Amino acid sequence: MENLDLLTRYGLFDAKVPRYTSYPPANHFQTDVGLQAQRGWLAAVPDGSEISVYIHIPFCRRLCWFCACRTQGTKTLDPVAGYITQLVKEIGTVAAALPGGVRMSRLHLGGGTPTILSPHLMKRLLAAVFGEFTPTADFEFSVEIDPTDAAPDLLAVLSDHGLNRASIGVQDFDPVVQGAIGRQQSFAQTRDVVHWLRDAGVPSLNLDLLYGLPHQTAVTFGETITRVLSLEPDRLAIYGYAHVPWMSKRQVMIRAADLPDPLMRLSLSEQARTRFEEMGFQSIGIDHFARPDDSLATADAAGVLRRNFQGYTDDASPTLIGFGASAISRFAQGYVQNAVATSAYHGRIEDTGFAGSKGFALTPRDRLIATMIEDLMCRFRIDLQRLHASFPDRWSQIETYIAGLMKRFPDVLERRCNVVTLRPEARMLVRIIAHDIDGFRADLVAHSVAV
Ligand SMILES: C[S@@+](CC[C@H](N)C(=O)[O-])C[C@H]1O[C@@H](n2cnc3c(N)ncnc32)[C@H](O)[C@@H]1O
Ligand code: SF4
Repeated sequence: MENLDLLTRYGLFDAKVPRYTSYPPANHFQTDVGLQAQRGWLAAVPDGSEISVYIHIPFCRRLCWFCACRTQGTKTLDPVAGYITQLVKEIGTVAAALPGGVRMSRLHLGGGTPTILSPHLMKRLLAAVFGEFTPTADFEFSVEIDPTDAAPDLLAVLSDHGLNRASIGVQDFDPVVQGAIGRQQSFAQTRDVVHWLRDAGVPSLNLDLLYGLPHQTAVTFGETITRVLSLEPDRLAIYGYAHVPWMSKRQVMIRAADLPDPLMRLSLSEQARTRFEEMGFQSIGIDHFARPDDSLATADAAGVLRRNFQGYTDDASPTLIGFGASAISRFAQGYVQNAVATSAYHGRIEDTGFAGSKGFALTPRDRLIATMIEDLMCRFRIDLQRLHASFPDRWSQIETYIAGLMKRFPDVLERRCNVVTLRPEARMLVRIIAHDIDGFRADLVAHSVAV
């Protein structure tokens, strides 16, 4: 690879940097922003505006060793039923704190495994959501699906409530890789769920893949990619496996010696990119692909792609309300995260009906940095004219930041006509450049390598 020297020089293979699904990253949220901010910011959401809703289901029937998501294993539905009772309470309290006229443009169920719910529990949850929030005409309802735990009667409940996007976890189909990451999942199981969703008329399917897993080779990964493409997804997300066993304890089951080295990781990611582009997918940001007529691709082409906790999105709403343990809400004023542990979440909902426990109030300077980082992560460029228009009193600060960046990244950034662009062959460095703009330097242990 020609640009290897360049990527190495800027630390692609060593740097541990955030994924910037928010700025600041959630590990910088503080406990002095909590319930009081949550109540005030909910009340200040403009009446008549559109909001997005995220509901976190932190349970799984199986616990895959590679997984860094906030979730807990359960063999029975008893703790899940108790959790749904708390969620229903939280939805009622939060809805009452919002102005009456807000409408819901998006609903996303994530986890963990939302499809662990029984049809009865899912109906209870969705009755509470739709009872409190009126959907907009172009409402989108998406769910994360583990194909090994997605019963047809549960999928039917989702489809009856207007499910129009599903995100299906694949990771890798190779049996040796699956054995090493503690996740068995046959191609047939995955294909059956894809067919069921297509037959039910769910128009948009995303598949999640991981590179950098133990024992992955160009040959085995190539076979996984072929099988994934045969399922004809509308979108693909391909994430670099983050090996952080000091944070995600079950990853100690994965032997570091079996992991591909950084150069191999880069090569696997390039292999997937080439194959997806050859098949007509448009590359979106650092880790997503979409068919050109998909709304993510059209948002990208129109320059309005956004970043949120699920990665890339075309959701334009400034307000995202998160429900459930560890869920994060985003307001124009800042972020609020619910109590992280399920037990702490239960306690807070019992006490007040709210679960906000920490967060971050954005200053004008934070907003400026957040805008620059989102522009970089979504478009690999910083539009100075747009920045100057949005932050008219911060001209000199913007110019100081940009001058510093141009000095530190002279051969990967170009400035022309008030636009700073990251050269295409250096796009893998985008998280490293974002981190250079980011004012936070501590707690990097919480993050994964940049490739
Ligand atoms: C919250 S998980 C839900 C997936 C669903 N429960 C399933 O098993 O299919 C969403 C995605 O996060 C990604 N993910 C989980 N652990 C990761 C890690 N350590 N590094 C990178 N991505 C990870 C996986 O691609 C996974 O599909
Ligand atoms: S990958 Fe999915 S099923 Fe496996 S532990 Fe993570 S959230 Fe649970």
